[in-house]
Amino acid sequence: MDLKSRMNLNVVNAPMSGIRKIADSVATMPDVIRFDLGEPDFDTPKHIKDAAIKAINDGFSHYTVGPGIMELRKAIAAKLKRDNGIEYDPETEITVTAGGVGAIYSGLQAIINPGDEVIVSDPVWPVYLGILAILEAKPVLVTIKESDKFNMLPAEVEKKITSKTKCICLNSPNNPTGGVMSEVNMRGIAEIAKKHGIFVLSDESYEKLILGNSKHISIASLPGMRDLTISQFTLSKTYAMTGWRLGYCAANKEIMAPLRKVSLYSITHVSSIVQKAAVAAITGPQQCVDEMVGEFKKRGKLLADGLNATGKISCLVPEGAFYVFANIKKLNMKSEDFVLRMIKEAGVSAVNGSSFGESGEGYVRFCFANSEENIKKAVERVQKFVKNL
Ligand SMILES: Cc1ncc(COP(=O)(O)O)c(C=O)c1O
Repeated sequence: MDLKSRMNLNVVNAPMSGIRKIADSVATMPDVIRFDLGEPDFDTPKHIKDAAIKAINDGFSHYTVGPGIMELRKAIAAKLKRDNGIEYDPETEITVTAGGVGAIYSGLQAIINPGDEVIVSDPVWPVYLGILAILEAKPVLVTIKESDKFNMLPAEVEKKITSKTKCICLNSPNNPTGGVMSEVNMRGIAEIAKKHGIFVLSDESYEKLILGNSKHISIASLPGMRDLTISQFTLSKTYAMTGWRLGYCAANKEIMAPLRKVSLYSITHVSSIVQKAAVAAITGPQQCVDEMVGEFKKRGKLLADGLNATGKISCLVPEGAFYVFANIKKLNMKSEDFVLRMIKEAGVSAVNGSSFGESGEGYVRFCFANSEENIKKAVERVQKFVKNL
């Protein structure tokens, strides 16, 4: 029997992320300096780990309510008000999800019908394309350019709006480009959303990782945007907790009710123990975050300066997140060929820009969540590699 044809073809045909392909291929290679996977190299702070251990020892190991324990939702509501300038009711408008991805998936499934159009940037974090394929939505790409500091321009978004546009996915600070939306552009996108009654899925996974002079703005805090926005956050990057799998989202209760159903029917709830750790992360000392951001600032500049010194690769010093999106167009090579050769010949891994869409071709993403020592060593290797190309 042909099993494949009997599967859900939306799922079978959904694209796989090129990031994982590179990561899997270098995982067992010795002496490769890794700049491919996007995760902090720091350990989860001790007070957060201690809260999880305490939860286990206290026997806090049973089912919780689906949207997350009230203690955590209240802590999140207070943080959203204080840091993001947005107010949501923890009872009905905040949900704890399985990482940021859980919030994105549940949020999109709650609002998308097959055939809906969803605006995403190009380049884009590929997970969006996978989810949209499963939901039978049509991704509508808006190119974001280096010359615009990788901002999504309102005028370009406006050109792509049709009667089928359901949602704009906005990701600032941005993966893969390290760009941060300016206030003017953020306000421009908000005006378009309001004018056409379009939802915004605001991916704020890197909200705390602001490395330059930019300011992080939550689009839901702009006038009239509260009830059109699903704001998504995660503890993964802020507290070096990628493996713990805890994110959260906030939205008007009419949006949140179906979103909660998706989360309930797929994961029931996030681990009770991890929820207790999240309370400690959000309500505890934030010095650990400041320290990590300080390190990332130094490292981003070190890597960007080192790559720029090759004369053949050019890149902006990143404004946010922990990615340098390096322009390799002068080398006249496909980004995938460049990356595969760099891994083999220089022992440095990164992700080809083409993994993030057509407009990513000619670029390579380096995640600088790696030690200063490794960055210096890798820069030397890349400089030598590029010279010999
Ligand atoms: C743009 C973006 N959104 C969301 C996420 C979600 O991360 P997680 O599910 O680990 O919280 C990531 C992680 O890499 C990301 O880069």
